[in-house]
Amino acid sequence: MSMYEIQGGRPLNGRLRVQGAKNSVLPLLAAALLAPGQSVIHHCPDLSDVSATLDILALLGCRVSREGESVTVDAAPISGSAIPERLMREMRSSVIFLGALLARTGCAKLCYPGGCELGPRPIDLHLAALRRLGAEIREEGECLSCTAGGGLRGAHIRLPFPSVGATENAMLCACGAQGVTTLAGAAREPEIVDLQRFLNKLGARVSGAGTSVITIEGGRSLHGAEHTVMGDRIAAATWLCACGAAGGEVALTGVEPGSLDTVLACLEQAGARVENRGTQLRMVSTKPLQGIQPVHTAPYPGFPTDAQAILMAALAGGRGQTLFVENMFQSRYRHVEELRRMGADIQVRGRCAVVTGRPLHGQRVRSTDLRGGAALVVAALGARGTTQVTGLSHIRRGYENLEGILRELGADIRLLP
Ligand code: UD1
Repeated sequence: MSMYEIQGGRPLNGRLRVQGAKNSVLPLLAAALLAPGQSVIHHCPDLSDVSATLDILALLGCRVSREGESVTVDAAPISGSAIPERLMREMRSSVIFLGALLARTGCAKLCYPGGCELGPRPIDLHLAALRRLGAEIREEGECLSCTAGGGLRGAHIRLPFPSVGATENAMLCACGAQGVTTLAGAAREPEIVDLQRFLNKLGARVSGAGTSVITIEGGRSLHGAEHTVMGDRIAAATWLCACGAAGGEVALTGVEPGSLDTVLACLEQAGARVENRGTQLRMVSTKPLQGIQPVHTAPYPGFPTDAQAILMAALAGGRGQTLFVENMFQSRYRHVEELRRMGADIQVRGRCAVVTGRPLHGQRVRSTDLRGGAALVVAALGARGTTQVTGLSHIRRGYENLEGILRELGADIRLLP
């Protein structure tokens, strides 16, 4: 069992280019399926979730190769439309293939395991949107069998909640539907704007991403295209929170500062100095972070649920009190128990967690999910003594070379086999 061993208390200093966004690259790779041609995705992060996605594409018959940061997907020879349970279990977000497969082949088959580390993970909104576009979906236990026997038709879809995945699935499927689709109540995340950009490069006609109404003119003939994945705003938030916890000065490039507004506002309120220099985001943290106004997670442009654990970890080792309200997922406080083992004072009641900052100490702790794992690393960087973090497979789903990057910034972190 591999683990990180971290000696806390060393400030972080230096510059880094932020990896490509995990939450963008997965739908982009699914979108590559739509066009019977070759697409090249640049700035593709080296993550286990990306490898799992590439395995699915290969299994569906695509020719897939990787050279450094660029992945080539030739979706011309696609021969299948079923994703085996083993690969679905490896990565739940592969439900994004439903819309793309329906659009490209008129059918899709996959098994969807209901819950995950964050609690129940329903896909009712995805299925309702695809049904509006003409998909017939049979649910047999955990398996879904989708066909578009009567053909896919553009439709007006209203999402009752701005689900990121349902928005992406509907956009992908609508590209293969005849006529115009309007998607109201859509999620507004920057990753959806990135998906729109790529779809348009493939020859689709999509507009409105970034607002709550997206329009897709479907049925156009698509071709391969090249695209560079946007920077990962959650990875960027992680490096900034790490700097907040450990102190120091870091400069990030390759991420759109505007996509981090709510996170930056929290870090500034907590006492860090943040400078937006256009293409570079610089943060200086010279004293322990202070408690801040309540943090409510919400769909974009609200505070991202994916940054909740990471900010909480940074504030847990600071001073003063902060209330967190997690509105997006049911079980997103699993890191709290582990942070407590490091001396954190965090009281959880339902959706709320009250953090009272105080010095943390090293401990052996276990990641239980991707961002919760990153939060433990953030806490360890600011803690006294040695922390061992296990459960690295969670962290590798979303962070490329985490230990190498932190070492470059001056952290004392070792990967133990
Ligand atoms: C995406 C992100 C994830 C992030 C989340 C919220 C990817 C690969 N993952 O996940 O990192 O934490 O957005 O910003 O991009 N819901 C339903 N029914 C549905 C779909 C969702 O009830 O059919 C609920 C979910 O249970 C959850 C909430 O809506 O409570 C938000 O989920 P959603 O926006 O769909 O998140 P994901 O797309 O799964």
